[in-house]
Amino acid sequence: MAAKFEVIKESQECKARLGKLYTPHGIVETPVFMPVGTQATVKAMTPEEVKTLGAQIILANTYHLYLRPGHELIREAGGIHKFMNWNGPILTDSGGFQVFSLGDLRKITEEGVEFRSYIDGSKHFLRPEDSIEIQNCLGSDIIMAFDECTPYPSTWEYTKESMERTGRWAERCKEYHEDWDKQSLFGIVQGGMYKDLREKSAEQITSLNLPGYAIGGLSVGEPKELMYDILEFTTLLLPENKPRYLMGVGSPDYLFESVIRGVDMADCVLPTRIGRNGTVLTSRGKIIIKNGIYKRDFGKLDEECDCYTCTHYSRAYIRHLFNVHEILGARLTTIHNLYFLLKLMENIREAIKQDRLLEYRDEFYKKFGYV
Ligand code: GUN
Ligand code: ZN
Repeated sequence: MAAKFEVIKESQECKARLGKLYTPHGIVETPVFMPVGTQATVKAMTPEEVKTLGAQIILANTYHLYLRPGHELIREAGGIHKFMNWNGPILTDSGGFQVFSLGDLRKITEEGVEFRSYIDGSKHFLRPEDSIEIQNCLGSDIIMAFDECTPYPSTWEYTKESMERTGRWAERCKEYHEDWDKQSLFGIVQGGMYKDLREKSAEQITSLNLPGYAIGGLSVGEPKELMYDILEFTTLLLPENKPRYLMGVGSPDYLFESVIRGVDMADCVLPTRIGRNGTVLTSRGKIIIKNGIYKRDFGKLDEECDCYTCTHYSRAYIRHLFNVHEILGARLTTIHNLYFLLKLMENIREAIKQDRLLEYRDEFYKKFGYV
């Protein structure tokens, strides 16, 4: 079954909507946050834990899995679901971001990208066709077109050139991909911070009639207000009956503002990455657990949370674990942070259902300390 998308309800107060995304490994209720499992593991979590926390779909990275352990090996293992023991939906990013953010000495041509491995410096060449071939071997439910995430800032001229090449690459991805029942290919709109280029990109990418569309090239260092403006402009250019995926976004305010502007899916390393270095998301804002003020704080990480960590351990204990570099500390903060964001998305879905998303956002911001 190809990923089919169904809009269940449109908000009366903004562009938010509730939807269902059907994949070969299950149904995803949208808007959804996708935890990142770059190396075919959500760092420090077992798949059972990830599922219990409320995750419906996870993300993995083509670039990393191609370099290690290799896509052929994962195919041999029976595909990524079997290899990592996650039986739910999986989305893989195309490598079109990691090649640029991690790859050294990359050279972009019409044909593809030459880069050096971040592991051993070996030379590789990735074409759009290679990205699809790799993702075909991985066997993820949703695969992404190979794109260039245009850096910020970039000139209009360069952004145009890059966006047009991304468009031609998307055509090649569509041409190469075969099993559309097993894997849905999503296109990626680029165009940087230029509305005329976003418009051109959206027009060209949506003309390919793909089962879903992503918005790339945002949250790359631009000011928040600019990101919201470009995002709002771009979502309006995408068809209503297809899922809209905002790549690389996961802070609570970005999630609220994206959903309000019509985004259905988002992913980010934020909850897992900041968790591992001791930053905890709470209903009253972020806290840094290593801070001395928590030395004798025997309360929960978040007074309002009922995750496994918060029902069993104190701030003082978790602070101690971080101070003595015990890996349980990172596990406990990861559990809490993932639960916090997944619960937030569940609350957001419920608020859309009741047409009180804006009220819920204002309440959340006030408590969290966003101005
Ligand atoms: N992750 C975050 N932003 C992007 C993007 O623009 N393209 C891809 N492929 N992945 C991303
Ligand atoms: Zn908790």
